[in-house]
Amino acid sequence: MCGAEKKSKQGICEKGSAEMGEITNVSEYQAIAKEKLPKMVYDYYASGAEDQWTLAENRNAFSRILFRPRILIDVSKIDMATTVLGFKISMPIMIAPTAMQKMAHPDGEYATARAASAAGTIMTLSSWATSSVEEVASTGPGIRFFQLYVYKDRNVVAQLVRRAERAGFKAIALTVDTPRLGRRESDIKNRFVLPPGLTLKNFEGLNLGKMDQANDSGLASYVAGQIDRTLSWKDVKWLQSITSMPILVKGVLTAEDARIAVQSGAAGIIVSNHGARQLDYVPSTIMALEEVVKGAQGRVPVFLDGGVRRGTDVFKALALGAAGIFIGRPVVFSLAADGEAGIRKVLQMLRDEFELTMALSGCRSLSEITRNHIVTEWDAPRGLPAPRL
Ligand code: FNR
Repeated sequence: MCGAEKKSKQGICEKGSAEMGEITNVSEYQAIAKEKLPKMVYDYYASGAEDQWTLAENRNAFSRILFRPRILIDVSKIDMATTVLGFKISMPIMIAPTAMQKMAHPDGEYATARAASAAGTIMTLSSWATSSVEEVASTGPGIRFFQLYVYKDRNVVAQLVRRAERAGFKAIALTVDTPRLGRRESDIKNRFVLPPGLTLKNFEGLNLGKMDQANDSGLASYVAGQIDRTLSWKDVKWLQSITSMPILVKGVLTAEDARIAVQSGAAGIIVSNHGARQLDYVPSTIMALEEVVKGAQGRVPVFLDGGVRRGTDVFKALALGAAGIFIGRPVVFSLAADGEAGIRKVLQMLRDEFELTMALSGCRSLSEITRNHIVTEWDAPRGLPAPRL
């Protein structure tokens, strides 16, 4: 039965817009995406590595951080605007790179670029996008970062970075947690491969846009063949020698690496465990954040991605020292459910929730959000008063 849904030409029930109107939080898009997408695609978007312990922990850890709201502060005006690498954005909520968005919706990365631009925030385009840097630039104005995977063939990398720069991208997010692809078991079972008609568009002209069918995950085989496992800190310097774009190091989880990132000339750090898709049993990013912030010693901004689904999560990340957050899966799930409108709604809901959290905590601007507005499990043994008053 199709109820409030409508039947598509193929006879598949599709959620009607009336039903979409009832969505009240970001997480609800996941179930709709699951219904709409082929299993191989949904599993690719949703999965984490191995036992998926970190995947659950990325969410669960947020629920162990509680608020210490301040009251009787005039919160009639709330300012969420901020600046990232010198670029003014409307809120500290940005879009993480997620690969192959045309599997979710024919508009793919175009929709994401337009939704981000409409919300006044930053989109990060994946190296493995199904739309090229030039195509995404053609959608109109917007502040965009380019996520870089470093291929063995450095000419390919240099060319791609140059193209991104020419297309108006403002920064490189260098992914440093993927010398090999994490073991995502559903991709192995499904023999994941890019669906027919789609390519890794940035690499099309370089004969690297296709992913061959393999007897495990086609993506894992592609990575094993193309991605440079020798990548090291000296390459962060090399990257600076071929581009004037600032470099964000994406995938830092320790204070040690935060310090080296700063020494290596990074313009910023993204605390990320790749949405729990690489090494399982690393801590949630919200647990790792404070250590990395300390390691960076205020010399570069520190951002976070992983498990952010609520405005309260955004607030908690900022209270622990993040300069902003990025969202991954909510973008692909809402894109699958409702195209550009879905992503717009996700950004709007997070914005509204974050604004409400600020108001209910007594913070009128981002600079008023402090460590004292939250209490974590690791602050003090239970029953003792919070230490930093
Ligand atoms: C990713 N991520 C990712 N990261 C990256 O550097 N390059 C990429 O191409 C991709 N592709 C990708 C695809 C999909 C389907 C997912 C879910 C994730 C990781 C991404 O940038 C980000 O770190 C996480 O998605 C953040 O976690 P949440 O918001 O998905 O929980």
